[in-house]
Amino acid sequence: MTVLDVTRPVLDRTSSLVLTPAVVAHRGASGHRPEHTLEAYRTAIRMGADDIELDLVITRDGVLVVRHDAELSRTTDVADHPGLAHLRTTRTIDGVETTGWFVEDLTLAQLKTLAARERMRGTRSANTAWDGLEGVPTFTEVLAMVGAESVRRGRAVGVMVELKHAAHFESVGLTLDVPLLSDLGRHGLDHPWARVTLMSFETTVLRRLAGRTRLPVVQLLDRGHRRPADLAAAGDPTTYADLASPEGLARIDDYADGIGAHRELVLPRDAAGAIGEPSSLVRDAHRAWLTVHVWTLRAENRFLPANLRRGPAPDAHGDMAGEVRALLDAGVDGIITDHPGVALRAARGY
Ligand code: G3P
Ligand code: CA
Repeated sequence: MTVLDVTRPVLDRTSSLVLTPAVVAHRGASGHRPEHTLEAYRTAIRMGADDIELDLVITRDGVLVVRHDAELSRTTDVADHPGLAHLRTTRTIDGVETTGWFVEDLTLAQLKTLAARERMRGTRSANTAWDGLEGVPTFTEVLAMVGAESVRRGRAVGVMVELKHAAHFESVGLTLDVPLLSDLGRHGLDHPWARVTLMSFETTVLRRLAGRTRLPVVQLLDRGHRRPADLAAAGDPTTYADLASPEGLARIDDYADGIGAHRELVLPRDAAGAIGEPSSLVRDAHRAWLTVHVWTLRAENRFLPANLRRGPAPDAHGDMAGEVRALLDAGVDGIITDHPGVALRAARGY
């Protein structure tokens, strides 16, 4: 008789089934390569990440592309293109005024003339070696690459898709969810067994998607008294703190399968910035049948809780593995991180 050793993962890594807790590479392995480049995603897959996380925005001609910000100058060389200088403008998106070049003002052809570059140029100066080597990928280019890597490696790599600024884009006539489901459908990924999860900080787009697809939906939760941009725009006073309460989680369960929580909602920091006992959020969410992913773990001291920093240099790596272990002890289902290698070693010993 085979005795199941419950201290070891039941599934091996060639399985297409999901290991939990999952290690999700945030914007690719963005601790090692410029975020949201194919090289960042490939690096994460090489490291063994279960899923890659990506942010979607949309061009003027309605093509989904991967970028965290609607404004492009922090992660591309758009400012160096004299032919695009006339598109520099000031715009308020989700209550934040920004000056620069906005993705919804560029066609895909214009966007494809840009080169990607490292965002954290001081903290992650080594990553600038990859500046200029790639452009901005479209969503379908990423899906094609993930499909090819999954076949090559004999395991299904998951994709956690975050829709950025859905209400804003809709207000300028660019609806994200229509091209999203069409791109996924073209890649054969709009079905419940696909390793694709749909996420947003906004509630409206998630409710709409929940009625249109059977892919899992995750409500992202920020800290405290901030409000989802779509609700704020509609005059709804609901805050993320409200949504993280047991009553709020019950509301989320109407349309979502899980939450993606800021890590400090699970491991609150004390006045000195140190973590200690977890909050009740994971337990409350699990009681509401919601999975819990946490974002975003980063290995540099400047991002770590005070009691896990190592040495005085803010950009040196501290004990992120300790933060991973504390979150696993709290019962989370997934860790979203810029440094998937550190998380995999801490979670599974490799
Ligand atoms: O996966 C959730 C996380 O990515 C949310 O934060 O700002 O990095 O998109 P952000
Ligand atoms: Ca994101």
